[in-house]
Amino acid sequence: MKLFISEGNPHCLKVLAALEEAGVQCDVQFVNHEENLVPFLSRPSLPALLLPNGQHLFSPNAICRYMFEVSGQECSEACDQWLEWEATDLQPALLQALHMAVLQGKELEATKVLAGPLSYLDQSLTKANTPYLTGDVVSVADLVVCAALHPILSAPSLASGDHKSVRLWFDRVAASQSCVSASHKVLQGKGLQAMKSFMQRQPAPQSGQSRGGTHPCNSGPAEDEERERAVSEEEMEAAALTWNKGFNASAAATERLHPILPQEGKRNILLTSALPYVNNVPHLGNIIGCVLSADVFSRYSRLRGWNSLFVCGTDEYGTATENKAREEGLTPQQICDKYHAIHASIYEWFQIDFDFFGRTTTEKQTEIAQNIFWRLHENGFLLEDVVEQLRCEQCQRFLADRFVEGICPHCNYPDARGDQCDKCGRLINAVELKAPHCKVCRQTPVIRSSKHLFLDLPKLEGQLEQWLNKSTSSGDWTANAKQITRSWLRDGLKPRCITRDLRWGTPVPHPDFQEKVFYVWFDAPIGYVSITANYTDKWEQWWKNPGQVEMYNFMAKDNVPFHSVVFPCSLLGAQDNYTLVNHLIATEYLNYEDTKFSKSRGIGVFGDMAKDTGIPSDVWRFYLLYVRPEGQDSAFSWADMALKNNSELLNNLGNFINRAGMFVSKFFDGCVPAMELLQEDKKLLALVGWELQQYIQLMDKVKIRDALKHILNISRHGNQYIQVNEPWKKIKGGDAERQRAGTVTGVSINVACLLSVMLLPYMPAMSQIIRDQLNAPYSCVSAMLHGSGAFTRVLDPGHRIGTVSPLFQKLEVEQIEALKKRFGGQQTATQNAANPQSAATLPTPAIEVNAGADPEKARQLTQAVAEQGEKVRALKAQKADKATIMAEVSKLLELKKQLALAEGTSPEPTPVKGKKK
Ligand code: MF3
Ligand code: ZN
Repeated sequence: MKLFISEGNPHCLKVLAALEEAGVQCDVQFVNHEENLVPFLSRPSLPALLLPNGQHLFSPNAICRYMFEVSGQECSEACDQWLEWEATDLQPALLQALHMAVLQGKELEATKVLAGPLSYLDQSLTKANTPYLTGDVVSVADLVVCAALHPILSAPSLASGDHKSVRLWFDRVAASQSCVSASHKVLQGKGLQAMKSFMQRQPAPQSGQSRGGTHPCNSGPAEDEERERAVSEEEMEAAALTWNKGFNASAAATERLHPILPQEGKRNILLTSALPYVNNVPHLGNIIGCVLSADVFSRYSRLRGWNSLFVCGTDEYGTATENKAREEGLTPQQICDKYHAIHASIYEWFQIDFDFFGRTTTEKQTEIAQNIFWRLHENGFLLEDVVEQLRCEQCQRFLADRFVEGICPHCNYPDARGDQCDKCGRLINAVELKAPHCKVCRQTPVIRSSKHLFLDLPKLEGQLEQWLNKSTSSGDWTANAKQITRSWLRDGLKPRCITRDLRWGTPVPHPDFQEKVFYVWFDAPIGYVSITANYTDKWEQWWKNPGQVEMYNFMAKDNVPFHSVVFPCSLLGAQDNYTLVNHLIATEYLNYEDTKFSKSRGIGVFGDMAKDTGIPSDVWRFYLLYVRPEGQDSAFSWADMALKNNSELLNNLGNFINRAGMFVSKFFDGCVPAMELLQEDKKLLALVGWELQQYIQLMDKVKIRDALKHILNISRHGNQYIQVNEPWKKIKGGDAERQRAGTVTGVSINVACLLSVMLLPYMPAMSQIIRDQLNAPYSCVSAMLHGSGAFTRVLDPGHRIGTVSPLFQKLEVEQIEALKKRFGGQQTATQNAANPQSAATLPTPAIEVNAGADPEKARQLTQAVAEQGEKVRALKAQKADKATIMAEVSKLLELKKQLALAEGTSPEPTPVKGKKK
């Protein structure tokens, strides 16, 4: 059991007190507020208790309860009721009180907020007349409530004479060793001030209303966004000061000059996105998982003034490519060329701005992979072993498990595959299959032993672990990346085979292993290096320079072990001072509606089709980033995409920017008016500045999805500001009113300008359109994200803006319904892959093959349909009565429907009644 807590977090006080009181054996570790230890939570939540079974408890009261239970003290019903009261009644008031006392210095108000719950507690204690909440002995309820109130009730400035019973009870409980020691550890004797940094990270509580037990993982974004943050006087003054400073042109971003190389004294960032397999058209889940996420971060890095290089390319070697080539009747090289171009054009449409997009089938790849291989060999990190494999002499190749079939050695099922039996479900070693045959030519393969090379991971394990400890604690690794890596290490590393008997791969240069190639997962990550080498001869400045370069790897979670264990071991074993990953950013999975993307079933939107929907690339990017599977799986949904487009982009963001622009052009002849800041304006500046800070903090940590919400918060504040100040009315008033209209307009147009910058990583085209409309040069705005970031005035009075026009279009229900139908499983795999251009523009095909086909049944039904058809025709010819005919017709239709199902095609639509065929 391990308890994670952080300093200054009031929730940690109670769990620590409960732990000490219960006397349970448990490691305690202090971590940073930002640590997300519970993998499925989208935001960090502390305290967290790691249970022996690997699960986490993260509700503070549940942890306390658990501690007591482990020590053998069951929680009574009364005790449970107090815990419930604490969570739903006391906590909301308490958070608000702490917010006021700690951040705003409003101590008097803070005590008022708590008056209700304290009276209730006081009355209950008086009535019960027991020393503790539930009787004569201290219970978990006492500890939880006492620890919750501790910061307030022990602050001298807040202690009041009211609530005598509470006071007596509190002094009794708080004096216990467990409370004293917990408070000492969490608050460090700093009292309320110890909680400042924690409180600053909390969303401002809603005033006057108790918010029952909401937890970060289930409070929807909308809820957080609606909440108004209280702004202090100091914040407003500071915001106004920053604003008045104006921008610092010297910090402006410089143009990108290729080749980009690391620079002395700069933050040098090497950014990679997992290299997509060349044999497939990527779907939306693939796109958000790697290239799009990496692109957002790359663009953001440049806005921050960091020196970054973003490389990617197609992963082209391996069996999968050979198979695809056979399927399409092309050579592997032709397949690679074809699909490399398809990938490149899809990414271009999605505005993925690689500094270089290469491929793995190059001479540089051979050179570098072979060099790393020889270094591993020289350094004694390779092992040899003999492996038995099936080989088809007819096809002249070794058969991958999926390419052999035979009789299951366990249950005698005749169609078992080389890796598994579909009947008994048991795993099979391909050489054990009885009567095996090659799936391609049906010939019987022979068993051949052949020698292979293995990377000696056990020998590298120590070095790896040492490096991992450093990298994961100093860098930003997503929680899933850390967890997956940890579980690989926990099981102990085994040697990994790095050679294959294939043709399509990087040749193994060792004379004893001629005819063999490297296994793709050894070879592919070296692609990052060779792609960089194809970009610049000075690639070693990036790749053999860990002191000056920070590397970020973006990928979906199934790629993690290869990037955190196997590839680092190859590089460590080469002993050439290679740059290793510092920040490993892994997404979870994106589902499609309520199912999975499936190429073979034609379900979901694939990269080449997105553009045919008529929805702009920027909107696709926005929505994918809005639902980015960050911390947990998420889903693409058409209805939700329409909703977010219409509510967030159109009504919120677009509306605000458009209004600000229209005011300038309509009321002030297109020139930014003079501004005279009042409190209200300063308050907006402070609110905007705070959201900007949140955005920067989150983006710096690659929380791309979370950061996006803060952009939308800014325009929400902006809309409210305009709504309250009504410049369209004030412009018609006297001088003072007209001046107000001017200030509000001038402030708003500057907020719009800031939004264009913050939006740039997400919606690059829209960002440019906004800057064009505002006539704001990139150089003047980008500086807002440099250094610690600040919202400053960049469009001064007199600045002439460009032509303003609406930014977004509504997505209509019918349009969305039609798209949903079109992508709901109607396309076939071959259609998309073989002819990506036309696949999406075709209308929904009427008949497609699906997985449920049953040929035998289909044959019988075809017969039955024919017979029934004859019968109907005969009845019609005899002019039989209508009812009789109709009855036989409906039988016919039913048979046809069954036939369609058996054939695995969609049934023909039932003819509309009365309509002649
Ligand atoms: N092609 C792999 C995939 O799509 C990723 C390879 S990443 C690399 O899952 F590092 F190996 F290149
Ligand atoms: Zn064969």
